[in-house]
Amino acid sequence: MNEVDDALLEAALKARLKAYAPYSNFYVGAALLTEDGTIVTGANVENASYPLGCCAERTAVFAAVAQGYRKFTRIVIVGPGPQLISPCGACRQVLAEFGDLEVVMAEAQGRVVPRRMRLFELLPLHFGQDALHGV
Ligand code: THU
Repeated sequence: MNEVDDALLEAALKARLKAYAPYSNFYVGAALLTEDGTIVTGANVENASYPLGCCAERTAVFAAVAQGYRKFTRIVIVGPGPQLISPCGACRQVLAEFGDLEVVMAEAQGRVVPRRMRLFELLPLHFGQDALHGV
């Protein structure tokens, strides 16, 4: 973990504390790094109508886009630990809309080495706007 990763992990951990997860009690935080070095965070938000809940990663993307950011270079995801959290399929697709980025699956206590993968490795052949242009 370098300094940027440390800052991202700290931001993700802080965001995780804001998760609203009364049904699963599974708190997740995410921190997105924008192209200009800004960090935008997200946490999972659940709902009594279970399927309406939203993951931390998508919350972070939606917050960032609403703040005017479209280019992201990295996302750090942290869960309750010690297991690493791999983004779900829906979050991979939402992230892929904005291009390839580095996905860092981290753990709070530093007991587990973070796992790093490119988003397009995690979601090859994602559905993109190119497909719509052919219609
Ligand atoms: N969750 C996330 O926020 N991110 C993930 O990558 C996996 C799952 C949330 C969704 C739900 O609120 C809870 O964790 C249990 O699935």
